[in-house]
Amino acid sequence: MEIPAEDVAPMARAVELAGRGHGTTSPNPVVGCVVLDSAGQVAGEGFHAYAGGPHAEIVALAQAGERAKGGTAYVTLEPCDHTGRTGPCSRALLDAGVARVVIAVPDPTPKAAGGAARLRAHGVEVTSGVLAERAERVNEEWLTYARLGRPHVTWKFAATLDGRSAAEDGTSQWITSPEARADVHRLRAAADAIVAGIGTVLADDPRLTARPSTPGEGPAGVSRVPGVPGIPSVSGITDIQGIQGIPSVPGLPGDRAGDHPRDHPRDHPGNHLGDHPGHHAGDHPGHHPGHHAGDRPRVRVPLRVVVDPDGRTPPSARVLDGQAPTLVAVADDARTGIETDLLPAPGRAAAPPHAPDREAGESSAPGRESGESSAPTHEVDLVRVPRRGAGLDLEALLRELAARGVVSVFLEGGPTLAGSFVGQGLVDRVVAYVAPALLGSGRAALGDAGVRTIGELPRLTFDEISQIGPDLRLIARPNPQPGREK
Ligand SMILES: NC(=O)c1ccc[n+]([C@@H]2O[C@H](COP(=O)([O-])OP(=O)(O)OC[C@H]3O[C@@H](n4cnc5c(N)ncnc54)[C@H](OP(=O)(O)O)[C@@H]3O)[C@@H](O)[C@H]2O)c1
Repeated sequence: MEIPAEDVAPMARAVELAGRGHGTTSPNPVVGCVVLDSAGQVAGEGFHAYAGGPHAEIVALAQAGERAKGGTAYVTLEPCDHTGRTGPCSRALLDAGVARVVIAVPDPTPKAAGGAARLRAHGVEVTSGVLAERAERVNEEWLTYARLGRPHVTWKFAATLDGRSAAEDGTSQWITSPEARADVHRLRAAADAIVAGIGTVLADDPRLTARPSTPGEGPAGVSRVPGVPGIPSVSGITDIQGIQGIPSVPGLPGDRAGDHPRDHPRDHPGNHLGDHPGHHAGDHPGHHPGHHAGDRPRVRVPLRVVVDPDGRTPPSARVLDGQAPTLVAVADDARTGIETDLLPAPGRAAAPPHAPDREAGESSAPGRESGESSAPTHEVDLVRVPRRGAGLDLEALLRELAARGVVSVFLEGGPTLAGSFVGQGLVDRVVAYVAPALLGSGRAALGDAGVRTIGELPRLTFDEISQIGPDLRLIARPNPQPGREK
């Protein structure tokens, strides 16, 4: 598609603005909007900052005021056309008198789509598909969720240069540097759910909470290494663009909540979920990671998920300490009475909080989780999921998470569970922290993923290579596979 040259810069800016909503809009999409006046000057800018808050178009139009009349609005996602309790953005654009609307990506949800058609029907010129690839990338978590009815999955692991994630004796702490571990906390904080297998819970007793050191600040000690100087023979990685789905500065709760007026309580219609299996936003307030009270964003605390077919999670496990909501996924045929063992009192936190301690691959506590208190305040819940193969049906588990409003999953392993996720084609992004250290024995970072011959090798493409302290952070995405397109 031929993109009018004058559309590139404003849409690129809209995409940049959309990215600022990362980590705070769930279960809504991230959306950015730029409004130019009839003379082509920027009149208003906005982004959707948090679920329940004003949509990007509303923020930008409010800023533009009268100058929007006869102007052009650039929106990264098709304006919603849902006549719910707050009225559609398409109507707001019409009321503002914009002459042209430029859209990057159409809204895939039947309920909210139709904004472009309504605008056209009212004589507004609509151009679609401008910088679509970039806008897809910035919103990839939500688009995965909306199109596939399951959360977007990022598998993170820490490994030595020879690809080992634990030593022969099972120890895996401190493979990577404190800087890398702090970065993990920032990525955790931007996710809706942090998932680990029972093997990891039994081996490391991790807390699986997000404890970013300085909320709102970018990662310390991060230097991008496009092309990795000194390794010139690595072909195709000479000019890697920063991945937009992984914010270098994650949109941590509170870091820009005050940037935008909150006097337009236009929730995204049905949170865009009305026609998706994940449409239960708000049905599970105890576990809804993006839940907001009133018109203010509430502090998000990622849901901890333990994949534990037979309910082997010890009652004393840190994941049951009430410091964050926890969901234990057991098999649908797991023994009866398991609920009573894991959930001592219905709807109440289980184990008392531990004294701050260390866990696998994490620093001792660079800071407290936003909103973390010493008293257990979050619930532990249990869900039964069908078995599949040697474990649980992971697709069914992901659909269950989507039903709880989980748009993005941060999978922390271990290798066995990660192997199943990869084998079932359920990993959308890989974040590897690679330490300049060698083990030579011990666990490989990835367990059996069902690859038996080199011809079956799942191929990925690097999106970013960064140096974090002494370690490398590699971000890659699976190459599209026929029949598995999103
Ligand atoms: N360096 C790192 O980044 C990192 C990260 C995490 C863990 N680790 C290390 O990895 C080790 C633990 O990993 P692990 O591989 O033993 O355990 P794991 O992957 O954490 O958990 C495996 C268990 O998950 C359950 N499971 C449920 N559904 C499954 C499915 N569909 N596929 C596979 N498993 C499923 C099974 O439990 P049942 O057996 O009860 O059926 C299985 O045994 C520890 O040494 C830990 O330190 C390292």
